[in-house]
Amino acid sequence: MEVVPLSSAAEVGAVAASAIEALVRSRPDAVLGLATGSSPLPTYQELLARHRAGTGPSYGGVRCFTLDEYVGLPIGHPESYRETIYRELTDGLDIPRDRVATPDPADVETAGARYEEAIVAAGGVDLQVLGIGSDGHLAFNEPGSSLASLTRIKTLTARTRDDNARFFGSADDVPRHVLTQGLGTILRARHLLLVATGAGKADAVAAAVEGPVSASCPASVLQLHPHATVLLDPDAAAGL
Ligand code: GLP
Repeated sequence: MEVVPLSSAAEVGAVAASAIEALVRSRPDAVLGLATGSSPLPTYQELLARHRAGTGPSYGGVRCFTLDEYVGLPIGHPESYRETIYRELTDGLDIPRDRVATPDPADVETAGARYEEAIVAAGGVDLQVLGIGSDGHLAFNEPGSSLASLTRIKTLTARTRDDNARFFGSADDVPRHVLTQGLGTILRARHLLLVATGAGKADAVAAAVEGPVSASCPASVLQLHPHATVLLDPDAAAGL
């Protein structure tokens, strides 16, 4: 694992954006794995700024898969991860919407297997952007998730629903269930790029990077991956 301490959240975003651009320049049909949440926003804003300035690559040939999706939101809900990733990144990069996939909450029984098949059919994820939950979760793999898990339905912990209440107005309004890529799914991506900023992530980052590989800190699976990069601002790196 390559751990890269940087000077600010903006620098984390700039370095992550450059890694994504380098991949897409060398492989215009790259498969990108995209995270939602606050952590990747500086990265996405940097990519959008460079795209608008005309200095970025063309994204017309890429395919995208999000990490996860809420279950139970009406179609088109602005906080669904499908709408969120359109709004925060892919529409602005002119990636056609039919090239952006999210797990399908319409049929949770089959959604996991269908999502796994779609990722394999696309050739697998070249670069997976990741954030980290304050409890060490990756995507929505809460502590206790199997390290070999694949895409499936999960129940959110109270802590994660509290963390995400800011997007919904209150923790009660946060869906209880989600579809999420598993830790095994994430480990199949060829390059994992985790971005973490802020003091609230310091303990989780320290456990993921320096603690034992354990389901009690799902992000510790990065230690098992041959090409994992962790970009940190000073606050997120404070526990190392
Ligand atoms: C969310 C997402 C994750 C994200 C994490 C951290 O609930 N499902 O993909 O990485 O929690 O979120 P944030 O970046 O907003 O702190």
